[in-house]
Amino acid sequence: MKKTRAVITGVQGWVPDYILTNRELETMVDTNDEWIVTRTGIKERRILKGEDKGTSVIGINAVKGLLKKTNTNPEDIDLIICATVTPDMPFPATANIIADGVGAINSYSFDISAACSGFLYALTIGSQFIETGMHKKVIIIGADKMSSIIDYQDRATCIIFGDGGGAVLLEPTTEDVGVMDSLLHSDGSGAPYLHMKAGGSRKPATMETIAAREHYAFQEGASVFKFAVTNMAEVSAEIMERNNLTAEDISWLVPHQANKRIIDATANRMGIGPDKVMLNIEKYGNTTAGTLPLCLWDYESRLKKGDNIILAAFGGGFTWGSIYLKWGYDPK
Ligand code: UT7
Repeated sequence: MKKTRAVITGVQGWVPDYILTNRELETMVDTNDEWIVTRTGIKERRILKGEDKGTSVIGINAVKGLLKKTNTNPEDIDLIICATVTPDMPFPATANIIADGVGAINSYSFDISAACSGFLYALTIGSQFIETGMHKKVIIIGADKMSSIIDYQDRATCIIFGDGGGAVLLEPTTEDVGVMDSLLHSDGSGAPYLHMKAGGSRKPATMETIAAREHYAFQEGASVFKFAVTNMAEVSAEIMERNNLTAEDISWLVPHQANKRIIDATANRMGIGPDKVMLNIEKYGNTTAGTLPLCLWDYESRLKKGDNIILAAFGGGFTWGSIYLKWGYDPK
């Protein structure tokens, strides 16, 4: 009997309208467009403005678009997984709120917290439910409203992050396409380099934690950069080797969009040229769990059935990993 795999049968991204440019950041912190572009590759990012709007807004918009374009009835969805580090609230899960918002009344849902690698983790988990035959339609979301945890007085972090995300539909196939392999890692000793100091069970919110600006993302950028360059490049090379893939076999690298220099280092290690690297960091910045589905969405019209695609990410935790997938459909 042929093996059942999980294949992506549709992708949809969503970003808010408001564009925060490097020029506007120049009026907020001591930075400049040239520094930001040369050190990161980012020109602008999106910000979700308005009262009472959390990450679920991104997820609901992405999933509604996904259901429409794939002609899927929300009542047929079995499971929704949302990767995010900026949930609407600590509980319930943002995935529960999204499921309710899109009318997925027969689905159960949960969140995954793996920072920038969240989409890789969630895609790997969702694929297992399809491969085992337990579910037929699973939606994987990667979305973050990073502006809710960014200190717009800290020039080292506020220039990088933005809001946005996307969703994919996973369905079973016995064709030779879909999620072929996955390689995931985590190392909690990396926590001091990238974390949020307060607001969790260890240090609940007090007047003091708010005054000390401890409810924002803290990052020791240069240290994270070093780990990211090494690990994202290594894990991408490793998944190629264990699947006997050469650079010529790869159609696309889909790298986490944290810093253009990290992306270039990963592509170099894999031996692939810039024409095969998905890149949209320029317009969205780092949307944490949102970067990978946003890339797939932006490049969807250029993807062909059977394309060999490597997804790769590195982020807070530390977490990192790569997924090898064969694209499942031609442009529609
Ligand atoms: O997605 C999750 C994982 N995160 C990442 O992968 C991010 C990894 N890190 C990075 O992308 C980079 O480390 C940053 C973009 C965050 C920073 O770039 P860097 O080249 O590592 O800069 P740095 O932190 O080593 O700072 C170099 C200099 C410092 O000045 P001095 O001490 O040399 O005088 C900083 O104060 O650049 C200064 N600097 C800035 N200057 C202008 C830092 N941020 C800025 C800024 N504008 N926004």
